[in-house]
Amino acid sequence: MSVIDGKAFAADVRARVAEGVAAVKAKGITPGLAVVLVGEDPASEVYVRNKGIQTREAGMASFEHKLDATTPEADLLALIEKLNNDPAVHGILVQLPLPGHMDADKVINTINPAKDVDGFHISNVGLLATGQKSMVPCTPLGCLMMLRDKLGNLSGLNAVVVGRSNIVGKPMAQLLLGDSCTVTIAHSRTKDLAEVCRGADILVAAVGRPRMIPGDWVKPGATVIDVGINRIEDGGRTRLVGDVDYDSAAAVAGAITPVPGGVGPMTIACLLANTLTACCRANG
Ligand code: GUN
Repeated sequence: MSVIDGKAFAADVRARVAEGVAAVKAKGITPGLAVVLVGEDPASEVYVRNKGIQTREAGMASFEHKLDATTPEADLLALIEKLNNDPAVHGILVQLPLPGHMDADKVINTINPAKDVDGFHISNVGLLATGQKSMVPCTPLGCLMMLRDKLGNLSGLNAVVVGRSNIVGKPMAQLLLGDSCTVTIAHSRTKDLAEVCRGADILVAAVGRPRMIPGDWVKPGATVIDVGINRIEDGGRTRLVGDVDYDSAAAVAGAITPVPGGVGPMTIACLLANTLTACCRANG
């Protein structure tokens, strides 16, 4: 069994992005990422801070916009339009979730698709689904990179994605299909989920339920990618666990991502890679 070291993998991706950034800067262009945070969700504040730090470390410009939780939706849409028209901004990310009075779909679809480094805009979703050049959502992209690194050619493998979110499950399934896997999207209503999971050569867990998938749902030798980041109380302390029960799954898997230190660090690394890609596409 091997543990897939997402932290080291992400550091490698960031180093390659930094090289690309240096090459673009030599031509007089500085890639720029704008991150918009509405409200004061503590977890979102941590993510946004880390994004800013890593963006600057890669040599890119970071623009942070913090708006009050009560900001009218029209003001957010106006800010996005301003960023769409700003040539120094190559990537725009609006941190989710948004406050209840805002229509997240409307907000996301206001972002210029060429600057949509999250890959959430409806036109990027359609481009990905039809196998065309698009912006690819960061977390599934990071998972795909680790899978290709571990397994090489994915063609013909049975892949089961547990979870059907627009952010992870659905785009993950599209990417695996693009690499010629036989893909099943399973979810909370799936009949005999255990048996479905046992058929997976590649098992991606993205449900947001702590340790929901035990080792006896894992096919011996399978590659397990755990996207879950769940906070649990354990003996009076808070700790992070995945959607997979790590100890029992690691005993049967061929390879597995730990939580923390697996998929998590890859998400921001892929965001930086997407920002560099957007900058390169914008500048021919
Ligand atoms: N909130 C949780 N994950 C994400 C993400 O990947 N992108 C954005 N914009 N918000 C998030």
